[in-house]
Amino acid sequence: MTTSFPDGFLWGAATAPHQVEGGNVNSDMWEMEWATPSIFAEPSGDACDHYHRYGEDLALMADLGLNAYRFGVEWARVEPEEGYVSRAELDHYRRMCATCHEHGITPVVTYNHFSFPRWFARDGGWDGPQAADRFARYSESVTEHLGDLVPWVCTINEPNLIAMLMATRMAPVATRDDTEALVAPAPEAVDGPRSWPSPNIDAMRAAHRKAFDSIKSVRDTIQVGWAPALVDLQAAPGGEERLAQVRPAAQLDWLDISRDDDFVGVQTYSRELVGPDGMLPAPDGAPTAQTGWEIYPDALGHTVRLAAERTGVPVLVTENGLATDDDTARRGYTEGALRGLAGAIADGVDVRGYLHWTLLDNFEWVAGFKVTFGLIAVDRTTFARTVKPSARWLGEVARANRLS
Ligand code: BGC
Repeated sequence: MTTSFPDGFLWGAATAPHQVEGGNVNSDMWEMEWATPSIFAEPSGDACDHYHRYGEDLALMADLGLNAYRFGVEWARVEPEEGYVSRAELDHYRRMCATCHEHGITPVVTYNHFSFPRWFARDGGWDGPQAADRFARYSESVTEHLGDLVPWVCTINEPNLIAMLMATRMAPVATRDDTEALVAPAPEAVDGPRSWPSPNIDAMRAAHRKAFDSIKSVRDTIQVGWAPALVDLQAAPGGEERLAQVRPAAQLDWLDISRDDDFVGVQTYSRELVGPDGMLPAPDGAPTAQTGWEIYPDALGHTVRLAAERTGVPVLVTENGLATDDDTARRGYTEGALRGLAGAIADGVDVRGYLHWTLLDNFEWVAGFKVTFGLIAVDRTTFARTVKPSARWLGEVARANRLS
């Protein structure tokens, strides 16, 4: 069966600045990585040195046939101290955007991907005073400097991650468990049906809306949205009521915020089954990824449909991929996910692109470098890049704009 994708479909890969750039010394993550004890398996250090090697990486993407790249601007670099905006760092990101265009690659730029400047984290992060105003001010500076080169902006990456973990009690599941430990209040705080707090939703809605307005005030042609984490939540027999209880705080309330946006970013890796008393482990015998998550490609089609139906705005797949050292499994997973995506498109869902997580084997937060989601391997000593077969295959799909 051959499936074509719409004209102008974006095909690419995604990264986050802290996970690939290296040397993000002014960020809260760097500070936590070097704390004793630290919940991080290892520090990010030089990561993939993408900060200096982005030119090589963009050339590789273009050679493969990819036409879009989602990357982040690192707030901790641009505003290392409150109110001091580094012109040199903004120039760096402007050069990255310009290099994308030289290669025919459309930049999709994230303004916040988990890491904060230390001063912002110290002051409470999203819950801190003036968080929304501070994020909007930073967003305005970035847009003033790069906006003419950037057609797509994601304000905040996975704003609902912690809410989802808490509401579904997905933890403990491999690295997500540790990710929760990074930022979440104690899980004891989440008991009682629907009285579970949705941590930060008001603060994050405000930050997103103010940033949206400030970006639009600089350049109203930019497509602005954010990118919630959308695990495919499914009811196991008897779990229907529990699923209905957890869904709003985990996902739906967050998707509702996208109704006023230009698009919704969908980030999906797997499914989770909800039983009467909470999350269930992966079904017996189900294949699992390095992260412990079930290998379940259909999650993408399902969550893209959910996001489109709930928000009524176009969808951009901003993350989807598999943590594995078996590259054939990566290709198989991706092909399955793209079939589900094609099915959603055939049914009329407006999907603008697919950005695979991730371009490079990189710093997988608390798990460190041993978890490998990349289309391209990176030598940990020399930073040499090795393109994996799955990357070549995805590039061919991108060039053909069809799956055969
Ligand atoms: C995040 C990425 C992360 C990926 C795999 C998403 O939650 O946006 O930063 O590396 O999932 O865990």
